Amino acid sequence: MNALEVLQNRVSITKLTAPAPDERQLIEIFKAANRAPDHGKLQPWRFLVVEGEGLNRLSSVFVDSVTSTGAAISASVLEKTKNMPFRAPMILVAIAKCQNHPKVPKQEQLLACACATQNILNACFALNFGAVWRTGELAYVQDVKQALGLEDLEEVIGFIYVGTPSGDVPAVPDANAEAIFATWPSN
Ligand SMILES: Cc1cc2nc3c(=O)[nH]c(=O)nc-3n(C[C@H](O)[C@H](O)[C@H](O)COP(=O)(O)O)c2cc1C
Repeated sequence: MNALEVLQNRVSITKLTAPAPDERQLIEIFKAANRAPDHGKLQPWRFLVVEGEGLNRLSSVFVDSVTSTGAAISASVLEKTKNMPFRAPMILVAIAKCQNHPKVPKQEQLLACACATQNILNACFALNFGAVWRTGELAYVQDVKQALGLEDLEEVIGFIYVGTPSGDVPAVPDANAEAIFATWPSN
């Protein structure tokens, strides 16, 4: 696939199995992340690679988080929460490394991190790996952020599940490119 084919055909893949990218492939993927547009060259992104025992640890962090509030929680929700990290052999935690900056507001730093993360999705697809960007409320709670070692101004913007597609790659939905742009002014 050439670059345009990758960009036009990437899909999220949720049924993922081993192998996940190896170290050499991860370097290729993160090189793509580093080519995100970046106002002020702040590089406001970093990623945690979670696999193996790390997935067990993340599962415990998620379970501790949902049980720590003391609110009633059903056995099925608890089970679902516990199993979340095992939906793929690897999770890349995408972290926006925001800072207070006189010219680059936090919003732009979050957007730059999102661009870097999208580059990761595309790079995974180009390397024939599957990936899906997930968040959910656990991306935003303080105890999860703390367990993952985030600093005060940092945000988790996504849990990127990565692996080898274990089923058919979903078809690309028909998207009408003509519907999303217009010439301005119109006359
Ligand atoms: C910031 C962000 C958060 C997302 N969170 C979730 C999520 O928690 N669960 C989910 O099923 N999809 C989530 N998605 C959407 C999927 O990653 C995916 O884009 C969507 O299912 C459409 O599939 P496609 O990428 O093949 O078009 C999120 C996407 C973004 C950009």
